[in-house]
Amino acid sequence: MSIKEAKAENTTAPTRYVGQAIARLDGPAKTTGQARFSAEHAYPDLAYAALVYSTIARGRIIAIETTEARGVEGVVAVLTHENAPAMKPAPKKMSMLDPASVASSTTVNYLATDEVHWNGQPVAVVVAETPETARYAASLVRPTYEQFPAAVDFAAGASDAVPDKPIPLLGGPANKSDAAAALAAAPFSVDLDFSTPQHNHNALEPHDTTAVWNGDQLTLHEGSQNISGLRAHLAQRFGVPAEAIRVLSPFVGGGFGGKTRPWAGTLLAVLAARATGRPIRLALTREGVYHTVGGRTASTQRVALGADAGGQLTALLHSSVSRTGRVGGLPEQITTVSRHLYAAPNIRLRQHMVQLDLLSNTFMRAPGEALGSFALESAMDELACELGMDPIELRMLNEPDRNPVGGQRITHRMLREAYALGAERFGWTNRDPQARSMRDGRWLIGMGVATAHLSSMRMPASVTVRLGADGALVVRCGLHEMGMGAPTVQAQVAADQMGVPMESVRIEYGDSDLPPSAGAFGSAQTASVTASLLAACTKLKKSVLTLAQRLPDSPLKGRKLAELEARDGGLYHRGSGLRYTDILAAAGRDHVEAAYKTNMPAFVAQTARDLRFRSRAASGAQFCEVRVDTDTGEIRVSRWLGVFDVGTVLNARTASSQLRGGIIWGIGMALSEQTLIDPRNGRIMNPSLAEYHVPVHADIPHIDVDYLNEPDPTMPLGLLAVGEVGITGAPAAVANAIRHATGKRVRDLPITLDKVL
Ligand code: MOS
Repeated sequence: MSIKEAKAENTTAPTRYVGQAIARLDGPAKTTGQARFSAEHAYPDLAYAALVYSTIARGRIIAIETTEARGVEGVVAVLTHENAPAMKPAPKKMSMLDPASVASSTTVNYLATDEVHWNGQPVAVVVAETPETARYAASLVRPTYEQFPAAVDFAAGASDAVPDKPIPLLGGPANKSDAAAALAAAPFSVDLDFSTPQHNHNALEPHDTTAVWNGDQLTLHEGSQNISGLRAHLAQRFGVPAEAIRVLSPFVGGGFGGKTRPWAGTLLAVLAARATGRPIRLALTREGVYHTVGGRTASTQRVALGADAGGQLTALLHSSVSRTGRVGGLPEQITTVSRHLYAAPNIRLRQHMVQLDLLSNTFMRAPGEALGSFALESAMDELACELGMDPIELRMLNEPDRNPVGGQRITHRMLREAYALGAERFGWTNRDPQARSMRDGRWLIGMGVATAHLSSMRMPASVTVRLGADGALVVRCGLHEMGMGAPTVQAQVAADQMGVPMESVRIEYGDSDLPPSAGAFGSAQTASVTASLLAACTKLKKSVLTLAQRLPDSPLKGRKLAELEARDGGLYHRGSGLRYTDILAAAGRDHVEAAYKTNMPAFVAQTARDLRFRSRAASGAQFCEVRVDTDTGEIRVSRWLGVFDVGTVLNARTASSQLRGGIIWGIGMALSEQTLIDPRNGRIMNPSLAEYHVPVHADIPHIDVDYLNEPDPTMPLGLLAVGEVGITGAPAAVANAIRHATGKRVRDLPITLDKVL
C-alpha cells in the first residue's frame, strides 16, 4: 500500500499525543532498578565466562598453556582452539534493507583457528562458578605466539589506501564537471587537510550476554540494535533453525552502532554454553569492549573549495581515507555530506580505505557524516574568512535547489529557517567577525556555526495491532529500545490513530518472537515502524468498522473509513458513532487483530525510485560559543544552540534528548575523544573511561535545542531521522568557534589545548 492510499483510506485522526513531551514509559522501571539488563538474569546453575585476549597484533598461536587455569578451584572449563567445538564460518552476506541481515562484524571464526588478527582478539574462554574466578583463571592462560609483521599505524598505512567499495544506499565517488580546473581558476579558495583519530564505543551498558541452551533451543539475553539479524546470524553459526533461537532485548543501555552486528562476546558466550551445558553469563569489562567491539575509523580528509568574489561556490573537492580491519569492517561514507550541502557546479568526491591489522571498524553514531561534516563545515568557515563574509551568509548563498550531485528533488529542507531562527536566538549579530576580538578578562570568546545533515532512510518493519473487548490495544513489534524512547513514541502514534487514551496502549517489543522490526540503526527505526503501524491501525479500524456496520441500526452504516473520526475510544461520524468496546461486545468478539507486513519487492522498488529521484534528509544549524584561556589554552564550550529540521517531532522530550545527546558527543569528538594505539604492537593504550575522555556534566553547558516541526511531505506522518543528526556539524561548530576566538584553525581532532597555544 502506498503512503497516499493509506492516507485516503484512513480516518481523520486528531493528534492528542503526537508532539507532546511525554516521559519514557520504561523510565520508572529503569530508575527504580526493576529493569533487568542482559547480565542481570538469574538462572539456576549459571556459570560465568571470561575472555583471554591476544597480546600480539598478527601471528599464530603455537602453544597455549591452560593447566594452571584449569587447576583453579571453581573453574568449569577452559576453551581454546584446541578443544572448543567449532562454530560455522561467519556469513558475509549483507543487506542494508533486510532486518534479518546476517552480516558479520569480522570474518574470524573464534576458537576455530590458531590465527591472530588483532591485538585483543579473544584466544580462549574460561568458564567458572563465579565471575572473579573466571577472570583470575583467564589471567593464568598462557599462549605462545609466532609473530608476523603487522600494519597497525593508520597514518603510515594511509598512503597504501585504495578506492573503497561504496555502501550502496549512501553513494561513493562522484564527478560533476571539472572541479580541479574550477578550483585552479577560482579567485578565492581554500585547500585543507584534516585528520581524525579512531573512536571507541562507550555505551553506559558494556556488551553483556546471558546464553541458555535447552537442547537445541537457545535463549539469549542480549542488548541489541538488531534482534532479527542477531538471531539469523546465530542460527547460521550454530547450525540451528532461526525459530529455535529467542533473543530477548527489552532493555539496552545504549547502542550507538556498537550493538548492530554480533561481536565476539556474544558468540563465545553461546559457544561456551553449548560446550559446558550450563547457562553462561559473559559481561565484558570496559577494556574487553575495546578489545572486541569495533569503533569509528580514523580518517584523513582533504576539502578544497573555490568561490567567486561574491561567495558563489565554483568548486568542491572532498576526498577521504578510512580504514577497516583485514578481517572485517566497512567503508565509511565520509564524503556523503558533500553530495547534499552546497550548490557547486563542479564537484569531485573520492573515498579510499586501507586495511590494517586492527579490529574491524564499525558503525558509530552518524558514520561518515559525523566525520565528513567536520571537514566540509570547517572548510566552509575558512572560506568565509578568506572572503571576509559572514559564514551563515556564505552558506545561504550556496543553498541548492536540487541535490548538488545527481540532481534529485530535495523533499524537504529548511536550513534557511533554521539559521534565521538560530541566529536570532543565539545573538549572532553580536558577534564581531574579527578573530580574537571578543574577550572576557583572560578568556577569548568565539562563536561558530556549522550545518548538520543526515540522510533519512526507511526500512521494512512488521507490526500487529490487537484491540481487546476491554478496549486495550496491544501493539506487537520487535523494535529496539536503547534509551531513546522508541516504544513510547509508538504508543503515542497508536493512541492517536485509534483515538484511545495512551494508558490503554501496550507496546510489546525487544523480543525476536515478535513480528520483526527494522533494526535500530541509520536513524530509521521510528519512521519505519511508524509507517507500518499506521497501515496496521488502518486495517484494524476497517475490520472494526465492518463489524460495526453489521450491527442493527448502526450509526456507521454506509460510511467509509475516510469520513470517520477515531476518537474517544471509538469511530464517529460527526456527533454519532460507536465505542470499540460496544462494537466488540455487540459482535460477540473477544478481540480484533490486524497485521501489517512490508511487501519486500514493492519496498525495494520504492527505495530504488527514491534514491534516483529524491534526496531526503534531516538537517540543522549548530551554534557554538567557546571560551579559550589566553594563558593555558583551556577550551570551554560555554553556550550551544541547535535548531533542527527533523520533520514531524513525535515527542518533544525524547527528540530533544536525542539531539542533545548527539551534540554532547560532538563536543567530545571535537575536544577530547581519541583511541590511542601503540604503533609497535597495535595495543589500545587507553581502553578505559579514565583515559579515553568522554565529556562529563562539568564539560557541558546548557544545550538549547529547537526544531522546526514541519512534516516531510514524502514520509508517513512526515518523520525524518532524529537519532544521529545531532552529532553532525557539532565538531565543526566547535572548531569554527575556536578559530573565531583564537585565530587558529585546528584541523586534527581532538582539539587539545596544546594545539591552540
Ligand atoms: Mo547508528 S551508527 O546507525 O546505530
